Amino acid sequence: MTADSLLRVSELNLILLGPPGSGKGTQGERLQQDFRLPYYATGDILRAAVRDGTPLGGTAQEFMDRGDLVPDEVIIGVIGERVQSPEAADGFILDGFPRTVGQAEALGIEMDGLERSITAALLIDVDDGEVVRRLGGRRTCVKNGHIFHIEFDPPKNEDVCDVCGARLIVRDDDKPEVIRHRLDTYHDKTKPLVSYYEEQGLLKRVDGMLEPDEVGNRIRALLATLRLEEEL
Ligand code: AP5
Repeated sequence: MTADSLLRVSELNLILLGPPGSGKGTQGERLQQDFRLPYYATGDILRAAVRDGTPLGGTAQEFMDRGDLVPDEVIIGVIGERVQSPEAADGFILDGFPRTVGQAEALGIEMDGLERSITAALLIDVDDGEVVRRLGGRRTCVKNGHIFHIEFDPPKNEDVCDVCGARLIVRDDDKPEVIRHRLDTYHDKTKPLVSYYEEQGLLKRVDGMLEPDEVGNRIRALLATLRLEEEL
């Protein structure tokens, strides 16, 4: 089944879960291209707000720089607006939201209100050592957030984005001491969502330790299986 035919069957409302550096953004970009669905990455939204100097950015910056989560009440409304928007009527991909049980409950209420439901929460599973290796070598496009890695996915020209030619940077929160804190925050606040979605029968695990293409293939296979089950 192709991505096109998958999309035509019914709407796809996906959540990407996983520790920092597990590859949510990398796979999110691919899913967005495959399914042509709006892709809402809360980290990207917040970084853009910081860059643009908006009130949201002003509130978020200190939390992000420390590797802490921004408060639930700040981020819930941001995603609520997008999920309700006409462009998300056929589905959406959420990367980095929800990140606490409170956010997941708010999303559930939002979906009930729209008489829609989450299709799956895809957990991209990687261990802590791999997170540190990946984030230490990540380079991010300053303009559009395209992602590279100096070892695993190097850009053709050092410090220049292959896709749009913008400058590549090391994110402020990819410094070693902040990476450690982000991982602790993940284990403390976000990992409980694994059992939360497991109990709802929505959790799908993907081995994130594999090559990016293989991770992408497994996600596609998983979504195709889900669709077949839905049709039976
Ligand atoms: P956010 O931007 O969401 O950061 P994150 O969840 O920590 O995730 P990352 O973007 O670091 O990693 P990723 O999983 O997308 O991995 P990537 O594909 O880049 O959030 C930043 C901050 O914003 C938070 O700390 C918080 O303060 C705030 N925030 C955001 N959402 C929030 C919310 N809902 N509530 C409260 N606060 C919120 O890959 C990483 C690297 O590995 C890349 O270099 C890539 O090339 C490489 N790579 C990817 N896949 C593979 C692979 N399979 N093999 C080898 N290398 C790979």
